[in-house]
Amino acid sequence: FNVPTPVNEPVKAYAPGSPERKELQAALDKARSMQVDVPMYIGSEEVRTGKTVSMSPPHDHQHILGHFHEGDASHVEQAINAALGAKYAWENMAWEQRAAIFLKAADLIAGPYRAKINAATMLGQSKNAMQAEIDAACEFIDFLRFNVKYMTEIYAQQPPVSGNGVWNRLEQRPLEGFIFALTPFNFTAIAGNLPASAAMMGNTIVWKPAYTQIYSANVLMEVFKEAGVPDGVINLIYVDGPVAGDIIFKHPDFAGIHFTGSTGVFQHIWKEIGANINKFKSYPRIVGETGGKDFVIAHKSAIPKAVAVGLVRGAFEYQGQKCSAASRAYIPSNIWDEVKGYILEDLASMKMGGTEDFTNFINAVIDEKAFDKISGYITKAKEAPGVEIIAGGNFDKSKGYFIEPTVIVTQDPMYTTMCEEIFGPVLTIYVYNAENFEETLELVDQTGPYALTGAVFSQDRYAIELATTKLKNAAGNFYINDKPTGAVVGQQPFGGSRASGTNDKAGSMINLLRWVSPRTIKETF
Ligand code: NAD
Ligand code: ALA
Repeated sequence: FNVPTPVNEPVKAYAPGSPERKELQAALDKARSMQVDVPMYIGSEEVRTGKTVSMSPPHDHQHILGHFHEGDASHVEQAINAALGAKYAWENMAWEQRAAIFLKAADLIAGPYRAKINAATMLGQSKNAMQAEIDAACEFIDFLRFNVKYMTEIYAQQPPVSGNGVWNRLEQRPLEGFIFALTPFNFTAIAGNLPASAAMMGNTIVWKPAYTQIYSANVLMEVFKEAGVPDGVINLIYVDGPVAGDIIFKHPDFAGIHFTGSTGVFQHIWKEIGANINKFKSYPRIVGETGGKDFVIAHKSAIPKAVAVGLVRGAFEYQGQKCSAASRAYIPSNIWDEVKGYILEDLASMKMGGTEDFTNFINAVIDEKAFDKISGYITKAKEAPGVEIIAGGNFDKSKGYFIEPTVIVTQDPMYTTMCEEIFGPVLTIYVYNAENFEETLELVDQTGPYALTGAVFSQDRYAIELATTKLKNAAGNFYINDKPTGAVVGQQPFGGSRASGTNDKAGSMINLLRWVSPRTIKETF
């Protein structure tokens, strides 16, 4: 079990003139100057159907980065068969060999592929350089290296008692069948981790990414291949979700789903699996990390500047398209004026535009559907009684899907934008009577169906204790005096409960344990 001790991958700064900046710039220039032709990867085949869909930067939707080949039901079947065909050799490969493949993948991302995966994430998903670096590079590398370590700890766990002519053992078998990895657009690291973590434990995978992430998924697949993931172990298909689901969620060899995405889609999938439960050889593992409506509550003792920084960064990094994004805030009346002043000052200095200009903090939202949904909430807020927009409020989709960071202040703590996941750069604030902290904690707990992330800002230890206790079930990741985004693998295992997911903590042993089925062996001498 002598695997390298993981340490978190250092975040590169991309300062002007730095070698990493030059390398990233070159990768961006190259990617923009060409059009890629992206096949599906099924078994040993690169599959080109000729039914192509173009890919564009969300911040420059007239520019074509390339196109991918869309598949249909027959490709889902082929991918399942390829996964099942590759299973025997893969699950019987010594775990050290599997570990070596994923450690090599981490090294490839850390080195020769870093600029390429970051550039793909910047162009394909409209993340600025820093947001791409902490996601596609650092978080993905950390997922791979820490998971290898957790894998060894899982294999090392054995029953404590043997002897007197008996040897008791525990064998961690991969699941019987194939795993479906269904991944979201907003984190390249999550898209890569969902197939990789299940594969690491000896499973074979059918992977369907969000269409808006295929541009960077293609680079991830290049890395998996170069690292030595054998043909058929991870099969990457671009098929409409319901078409894929219709086949997979009835298949006798369907062994589990590793999902990250919206709550509505996950609930739909769970029902489909439930409706077909008699068709499967085993009860499928259902692992899903889903939506959020993440809160920040400040106590009257909080430092106003710290609250404002936490809100602006937590709400507007990557245009609020993080499941963890701060999207509802409860600020006490005694510090509100100061907090508001700092928020407005911060937002005034923030530039919006394409990711190729490294000085832009705000980029575009992912696509037209998201743009229309988010701007719809803002339009309604402009006319709603008791609601005021104190920053932003403008949007324009002529060149890219740009929405200004928007701050809404509401007198109604149950106003729509305090309750529903908007998944965009919209923060709603409710200013409460500074003496009503405990009642406001109840409000935080009872608002909306989610429980993903949340934060309390306070200098008063009794208030921190009260919030920690009262909000026990309101967030799977709870932050004290920090923003609710930016969990680091190996430091803050990530996931939520209630309508936010099965809380199987991505990047942890808990998650990897979902991809094995232990067998107990008793041998008598
Ligand atoms: P989404 O639910 O729209 O899509 C996720 C995946 O499911 C995509 O691959 C999509 O094509 C597929 N899909 C959609 N409908 C389907 C259907 N009927 N059958 C089968 N597959 C289907 O999510 P998204 O827009 O890509 O990502 C944003 C969402 O993900 C937000 O709600 C966000 O909160 C959530 N998210 C959660 C976490 C977490 O850790 N909790 C992390 C990232 C994102
Ligand atoms: N790891 C991501 C965050 O915490 C989801 O923001």
